Amino acid sequence: MAATELRKKLVYFLIFSSVVALVLITFPFIEELIRVYMTEKFGLIIAPNGGVTVAEGGAAPSMMTETTIGLIVNVLHIVKILLWMALVISIVRFIGYLVVKTAYRNAAQGEISSLIKTILSIIIYIVSFFIIFQSQFPGVQLAPLFTGSTIIGIVVGLALQDTLGNLFAGLALQADQPFQVGDVIALAGHGTGVVENVSWRGVKIRTFQNKLLLISNSVLGKESIEVAPKNNLNARLVFFSTKYNESPAKTAHVVREAVRLNENVSPKIRPIVRIRALGTDGIDWEVKYWLDNYASYNDSDALVRQRIWYALHRERIEFAFPTRTIHIEEKVAEPLAEEVFNNIAEHLNRVSIFAPLSDEEIERLAAVSVAKVYAPGEVIVSMGQEGNSMFVVISGTVKVQIPELSYQKTIGTLHENDFFGEMSLLTGEPRSATVVAFEESEVLRIDKSGLKPIFESNPVLVESISELVEERRALLAAQIEAHAEEEEQRSQKGVMRSIKGFFGLSARKTKSEPPA
Ligand code: CMP
Repeated sequence: MAATELRKKLVYFLIFSSVVALVLITFPFIEELIRVYMTEKFGLIIAPNGGVTVAEGGAAPSMMTETTIGLIVNVLHIVKILLWMALVISIVRFIGYLVVKTAYRNAAQGEISSLIKTILSIIIYIVSFFIIFQSQFPGVQLAPLFTGSTIIGIVVGLALQDTLGNLFAGLALQADQPFQVGDVIALAGHGTGVVENVSWRGVKIRTFQNKLLLISNSVLGKESIEVAPKNNLNARLVFFSTKYNESPAKTAHVVREAVRLNENVSPKIRPIVRIRALGTDGIDWEVKYWLDNYASYNDSDALVRQRIWYALHRERIEFAFPTRTIHIEEKVAEPLAEEVFNNIAEHLNRVSIFAPLSDEEIERLAAVSVAKVYAPGEVIVSMGQEGNSMFVVISGTVKVQIPELSYQKTIGTLHENDFFGEMSLLTGEPRSATVVAFEESEVLRIDKSGLKPIFESNPVLVESISELVEERRALLAAQIEAHAEEEEQRSQKGVMRSIKGFFGLSARKTKSEPPA
């Protein structure tokens, strides 16, 4: 395609310039013919500058003949100037075409703009015109015409006010290069699109409705422009809302997975899904993702929204829409829904320490248990605090942690149907460790007041629990002791290192090693 165009241009160029060159070559002969004709017909000799002398034996020319001859000579000079200029223009245009083409192939497209090409061409045209004009009319001084005339300057200046404004703004844009061909730019009040061309007059933008938006450089220079460079990973934001009863951790995970694998979503940066606001109608979410090709962000946004819908639909997570929920408060406490109650009882039945309890006691315990949900990373009980309740894990994972230098060391991980918090509840001592939700976790909280009547009616339970408490306490003590020992060794090593450092002794030398 490009090769055919080049060939076509080359053929046109060769034909045109050959014809012009041929005319220029034959021009002296045409002049000579006219001169010979004048001498033979009127007996006049015409000098190259248009001067007329009478040939031997000829009559003196009339005023009329002299003026006509002068006119003919001048017309011939002007035709020659036009022919030379036509040749220069065709050469400059062809070379310009070749240069721009090569530059586009080698560098990023648009780096050499038509602006530079136009300015260079104009300079070459002016200089060529000077030279050609002076060669044809050596007696006429052109320079003072351009430098001396203030009036011409003012007239031209006024006429070209806008054009010059565009030109200088274009030059500033060229020097600054805030954007390039292929970048997506958004202009406040004008629109958004892909830059197609930057010229000395203005910028051509292809909008997303496939229209061309032409903005002059002088207008562009005054606007604030938002640029999304094409070689940059530009981000997009998409918003949606879910109902309050939907789990945030689950929603974030589902949406991230749905967005991550989309076409045009860059695999280099993981999409971010976060809560933007706790809105009046639901949880307001924001999804941020980075695009490989920003120019097609409309399609990508639409696809991302579609994928979010499907992913949430599959997981039965509902979108929030403007709603008003009126809660009518009832005076009597609502009994636990049967389903929830049975579920709690089922979980309590699977907890090892409650094995000695009868069905009726389990039901009594279920009636005083309250389910609580914790977000990943949330602290459920804090080490050192007073504790009047114990917990049973219903879903998720929790970590038991004790402090170790600058971080929290995990000493146990508890899953569904495991329990914790029994130590403080039974002994009245402060919490022996911190328990944190590792992922979104639901736990049953059983308060001392709820457990007391069951203990009173079932002393075996006290025994079985106290054995477990003893076991855990021993384990915890062993871990704390190991930790203390480690600490001591570390601090001893630290002291030794300080002394050796202070006396400039090598770190490897010990008492048993003889000096070298
Ligand atoms: P409590 O001391 O009330 O609060 C912290 C809880 O962490 C504690 O009760 C135990 O239930 C639990 N815990 C302490 N040490 C361990 C351990 N080694 N393994 C599992 N759980 C533990």
